[in-house]
Amino acid sequence: MKKIGVFDSGIGGLTVLRALRRRAPRADFVFLGDLARVPYGVHDQPTILSYARSDAEFLLSQGADAIVIACNTATAAALDALREELDVPVWGVIAPAAEEAVRLSRGGIAVMATEATVRSGSYERTLRALRPGGEYHFLPCQKLVSLIERGVPEEAEEAVEQCRAYLAPIVGKSVDTLVLGCTHFPLYSGAIASLLPGVKLVDSGEALAGQLSEILREASGEGRTDYCVTARSEAFERAVKRLDGSAAPGCVRCVGAL
Ligand code: DGL
Repeated sequence: MKKIGVFDSGIGGLTVLRALRRRAPRADFVFLGDLARVPYGVHDQPTILSYARSDAEFLLSQGADAIVIACNTATAAALDALREELDVPVWGVIAPAAEEAVRLSRGGIAVMATEATVRSGSYERTLRALRPGGEYHFLPCQKLVSLIERGVPEEAEEAVEQCRAYLAPIVGKSVDTLVLGCTHFPLYSGAIASLLPGVKLVDSGEALAGQLSEILREASGEGRTDYCVTARSEAFERAVKRLDGSAAPGCVRCVGAL
């Protein structure tokens, strides 16, 4: 494996890319942020599957020899289909995050995710298969995606208040582990953690990268990362700078709508 293709609807995938890059110093990466169609979480499954197909196709056209779906919503809607349809390895983030949550938790588990991820039942099925009698809470938190895409920082009142409102249903419950079941949400992990002191947070990108660490260590490329987007966004460019210290100015290429 030399070049790993990574896609998400937008900024969130950068949190997964960061986790992968840390464990794969020699791999090449090509990242696609589908900013022309973000957010994915408000759409139905067939629509998200068609977006995911075109994203993966683009990455393969750039020479990717493995695909990471750096998006919980697209993992829920498209992982099985892409695994069947493509000749390269395809990885998603939901099973690794659910497994990590069950490993860490001794009480209830909550999952913050997009509307489509919650509706898919993907986390619920995976968690119940791992621990059938567990206490689970599934929280649709779609508006956080738009705040993060607009570049609203996690310390802004708007962001904190939105997190507080979404987390209200689990206050006073015996939740000890919270899955950030959308790859955008690690960018608000400080705000979320301060609202839920003592609760362990699971980052789905970190969970996947942890499971792939051996494969990632052996990947052999030149350590390059190409950043592609389907539409320009200043918040995306700022997030690249923040999450990848070695990214050169102007390194984000706009490839147009897919
Ligand atoms: N980052 C995404 C996820 O992990 C998708 C957010 C969206 O586009 O709605 O679910």
